[in-house]
Amino acid sequence: MAINAAKLIYFSPTQTTKKIIEGIAQGVRFDTVEHVDLTLSDASMRKPAEIHDELAIIGSPVYSGRLPAVAISRLRQLKGNGAPAVIVVVYGNRAYEDALLELRDVALEAGFRPIAAGAFIGEHSFSANCTPIAVGRPDAEDLGKAMGFGKIIREKIINTRALDQAGSLYVPGNFPYKELRMLSDVSPAIQEMLCTRCKMCLLVCPTVAINENDPTLTDKSLCIRCCACIKSCPAGAKTMEDPRIKQAAEQLSVNCSLRKEPETYL
Ligand SMILES: Cc1cc2nc3c(=O)[nH]c(=O)nc-3n(C[C@H](O)[C@H](O)[C@H](O)COP(=O)(O)O)c2cc1C
Repeated sequence: MAINAAKLIYFSPTQTTKKIIEGIAQGVRFDTVEHVDLTLSDASMRKPAEIHDELAIIGSPVYSGRLPAVAISRLRQLKGNGAPAVIVVVYGNRAYEDALLELRDVALEAGFRPIAAGAFIGEHSFSANCTPIAVGRPDAEDLGKAMGFGKIIREKIINTRALDQAGSLYVPGNFPYKELRMLSDVSPAIQEMLCTRCKMCLLVCPTVAINENDPTLTDKSLCIRCCACIKSCPAGAKTMEDPRIKQAAEQLSVNCSLRKEPETYL
């Protein structure tokens, strides 16, 4: 099989998934690489991306051991046309549970043929100075492993005569997937005195939850608590103050301090 072009397809509010996907693509070494960034809501409006004679590298973060619902709905709009795909989830050093299996199933439904999979680690969205969780990941070691994984995928592609020979890909996880227990009435708090109205938060919000005219207002029913607004605020005006999330972050900071390493499946 010869494939010289790649489409990097990802939902990545705080960019850790994007970094891993790029690392893998570097390892495979393509002539042409195109990004299909599904993070912002205008991705839902665009014509669905069609993939032909390319390798798709598809990535999503893990939310509560599953995929974020918004990522699933955007991924479902893709047309895989039987293209081979590498599927990747990135999680915050706790666990990825059923997320990789869910991503494999979503990719299959969209017409891709998953040939390799990986679960990598990224700084936890809820990580803060007082509750650090996987800070700075993916780091150089993680990116080196992503590139190494890319090299192995390259070998697999070269040594596979036709896609039919690739076989079906095993990934861990259970079906029915883990029941989703997400908070629905929470959004980051803002210190109005610190906010400069630069609207950076508006630019990075994947669900247009932040008010265009007054960025200090957030629609809690739209917020997915991805923390992109918190991490991108140059004034440090946004924080997660909800006691349930603060308590979860405290527990994760203690219980998930042991470094986990990437896992790959071929
Ligand atoms: C709502 C929510 C739920 C999360 N659930 C998990 C989880 O179940 N396990 C885990 O290890 N990390 C979890 N994370 C952390 C993210 O998976 C992790 O920070 C990831 O690197 C974020 O990807 P991104 O930078 O591409 O947005 C969660 C993050 C959010 C915002």
